[in-house]
Order: sequence, then C-alpha cells, then structure tokens
Amino acid sequence: MLANRHSSFDRNPPVIIGGFPLSNDVLVVHGGTPLKGEIRVRGAKNLVSKAMVAAVLGDTPSTLHDVPAISDVDIVRGLLELHGVRTTMSGDQTLRMDPTNVVIAGVDEINVHAGSSRIPILLCGPLLHRLGRAYIPNLGGCNIGGRPIDFHLNALREFGAVIDKQPDGMHLSAPQRLQGIKYTLEYPSVGSTEQILLTAVLAEGVTELRNAAVEPEIIDLICVLQKMGAIIKVHTDRVIEIEGVDRLHGYRHRPVPDRIETGSWAAAALATHGEVFVRGAQQADMMTFLNVYRSIGGAFDIDDGPDGGIRFWHPGGELSPVALETDVHPGLMTDWQQPLVVALTQAHGLSIVHETVYERRFGYTAELRQMGANIQLYRECLGGTPCRWGRRNFLHSAVIAGPSQLHAADLQIPDLRAGFSHLIAALSAEGTSRVFGVDRYITRGYEDFDAKLAALGASVERP
Ligand code: EPZ
Repeated sequence: MLANRHSSFDRNPPVIIGGFPLSNDVLVVHGGTPLKGEIRVRGAKNLVSKAMVAAVLGDTPSTLHDVPAISDVDIVRGLLELHGVRTTMSGDQTLRMDPTNVVIAGVDEINVHAGSSRIPILLCGPLLHRLGRAYIPNLGGCNIGGRPIDFHLNALREFGAVIDKQPDGMHLSAPQRLQGIKYTLEYPSVGSTEQILLTAVLAEGVTELRNAAVEPEIIDLICVLQKMGAIIKVHTDRVIEIEGVDRLHGYRHRPVPDRIETGSWAAAALATHGEVFVRGAQQADMMTFLNVYRSIGGAFDIDDGPDGGIRFWHPGGELSPVALETDVHPGLMTDWQQPLVVALTQAHGLSIVHETVYERRFGYTAELRQMGANIQLYRECLGGTPCRWGRRNFLHSAVIAGPSQLHAADLQIPDLRAGFSHLIAALSAEGTSRVFGVDRYITRGYEDFDAKLAALGASVERP
C-alpha cells in the first residue's frame, strides 16, 4: 500500500531539465492490469472551494463536512487564514471556519498564492462586503484556454466596485454598499455565476442574473447561501434572482459528491477492462455521463442506499464509438472529456468529440498519440452545433479511430484532468510508463490517489 502523498501548496516546485522534472514527482506505472476494487469520493472540489469562500460572508463560524484532502483546498484555506479566518480541520475531514475577525491581508503575503488557482477571484464580493476592499493576486488554473475574467469584472463594476488592475494583481474597493444589478452573462460561465451570487447576497436590493450556469455545484452553493440566510430564487431558463439581505450567518453543510472524480474512475475502469465501485457517487448529477458510458458499452449499477455509490465496469466485448459534444450543464461536462477520450481509444470505429467549453482542451492528446492512439484534431465544429471556437483557428474537435493498443511512454502532465487521463492511458498501456508531475497537478483535485490506485490493484510505484 502506498502512503498518502497528497501535495501541499507550499511544496518546492520541481527542478526541470530536458522537459521533465528531476524530483520524485513521478509515478512509475506498469500498465495492463485491470483496475478492480472500491474507492470513495468526497465532496466536490468545485463546490468545496466555493463554499469555503462563502464562509467569509457569515458573521458566525461555518462547518463543512467531507472536505477532500487536495491541494486546491489547501490553497483556499491558506487564503482564508491570511484574511483572518481561523480554520481547523478535524480527523474526519470536517473543516470549521471562523470568520468573525476578517482582516485586510498584506499584498506580499497574498501574492505567494499568485498563479496557484482561480478561486481567489471569488473572494472579491465577500471581501468587499466585509472590508470594503480586496486585493486579488494573478490567477492560476489549468492552461486549457484563454480563461478571461471579463464577465467577473464587468459584473463587479456594475455592483459598484472600483477596480484598479496592476501587473501583479487587482485592487478593488467599494466606496459604498454594493447595489443589486440586472446582468446577462454572454455565456453561462460557472465562475461568473458564482461571483454574482457571492456578491449579490449582501448587496442592497435585488439582483437578476440571466443566462446563469446551473451546474449541480452551483445549486449546492445556492443551498449553502440559503442556509446562511440568503434569499435566492432559481427560475426556469437560467434566470436567478437574489434578494440582498443585511447579514448572513455561518452554515453547516455536506457537499455534493465529486462527479468529475467519479467520471474519471469510471473511465479508468472501462479503459483497463476493470471494475470500480465508487462509493459516495450519486446518480442524479451523473446522468449525462451515465448515458454516454452506456452508449460506449460500459456497464454500471447504482446502489442508492445510505452509503451507496455506483459500480462501473467493462462487461467484455467490443466498445462502441460515439459522437460527443461537451457543454454547460445539463450537457456533457468538459471535465469528463479527457478521461472519456482515453476510453474511446479502445472503441471499435470512429468517435467524434467536439469541445465547446474551452478552446484548447485537446493539448493532452499529443501524449496519447505518442502512446499509439489514433487521434486527429480539427478546427471545425465537428458533428454538432457551431460553437464559439469554430472558424477561430482553435483545434477543438477530435476524431478518435480505435481500437489502438497503447504502449508505455514517458508522460509530462500538462494540467489536472489531462493528467488523470495520462494516468489512465498509462494504466491501460502495455509496458512501464513514467508519469511526471503527479504531485503538482493530480493532487490538486484527486484525494489520496496513490492509495486509491493501490486499493484498485494498480501496479504503480514511486521511484
Ligand atoms: C469551472 O471553471 C471549473 N473550475 C472547471 O473545472 C470547469 O471545467 C468549468 O467550470 C466548466 O464547468 C472550478 O470550478 C474551480 P467557466 P471556470 O467560467 O468557472 C469563458 C477543474 O479541472 N469565460 O464556466 O473558470 C471561459 O473562457 C476545472 O476542476 C469568459 O469568456 O469556468 C470558458 O470558455 C478546470 N469570461 C467558459 O466561459 C469570463 O469572465 C466557461 O468558463 C469567464 C469565463
């Protein structure tokens, strides 16, 4: 059994020579063993980090259960602590956050977190409400597209924030109480919807948000805010109405399970001809994924008892090719795209995948090609409706011809989800691969993944 090696944000960056880091940030994977066994998923990374930010809005402590031990949580915790929020994590991964003494943090201290995550931008509203000003460092996050923050800034300005952009970060101030707005998002962006929710709840008056994102993690954030005393109505057709209130208090919340991690292990089961029971996974938020999984030829069984989950397996026989398009919820989530593409390299025939959320989310396929996968990228919107990236020179559609026998390679992980896909590819390939960058990237979003791989019988080792 391998030790839990989840990373921490203060780890030294690896030394990189000849393209590969020389530190021990590498996993040696002996491929070809089907993954078999059981793992558990905790609260969704993309809710937990936002719920942690929401705690700043309260004037009493909040408690968040089932928090995953991942480095993105460490980063947000570090930021909260810098702003005077006292945090304690108990042995069962319950996080208590006490925001009664929120303070202005030093720019130099905040800049330590520059480039580490995209979450800091969501602190704007809460800090403006609590302190009247905020400093936000330059953002990080996966390099999967331009990832502008224009929607965030336009909305904040309409609420009444004054924004001063500097080379190292942004200074914001609220000369007076922020005022509710009427705002239509150009695209149903997850982060911008969260920004507007986290700002509108304590703004004066009503905010009406149109073309909002309605991902399950956003609905769960709305549940958190409602527990805190907010008044938020989710109407049909992506319209959310928020009645600002004068104060919010702390919450106690158990987050929705991580549907991205669930989909990642499900794809790993399929690609390695294995069988994985994901305890904690829930059907409702996985519906679109489950339909695709079944179309490809994967099997699953749902246990919706009190401590249930979903069992995913390869039932034998040939996998079928499919035409997919990623989209905002309730469409197929973009974060499921990479693990599914690895599984599709094993399907018999031509699959088409049209990525409509991010313009550069196929970079990782270069490594899969190096391993023997037959994947061609196209600039056109293949197989579906035209999207924002068509005719704009972005390689955002892929044709995968399968099945391909993948063979081992040295792989450099480019980002979080692509990294897990490289790992799946290495697990299903013939021979011994070295996957570099696992601690730096995969531990951002996958808890205890060394231990989980060991529990599933993967043949992996740390050199
Ligand atoms: C969230 O990113 C997630 N991150 C992503 O997961 C996820 O892929 C994405 O939502 C889509 O579901 C977190 O929750 C921390 P967006 P976010 O704003 O909020 C454009 C992972 O691995 N846009 O919905 O940053 C943007 O460029 C990560 O866990 C603007 O144009 O995504 C993109 O094309 C990766 N202007 C689209 O909207 C803006 O101001 C969707 O982005 C904001 C966004």
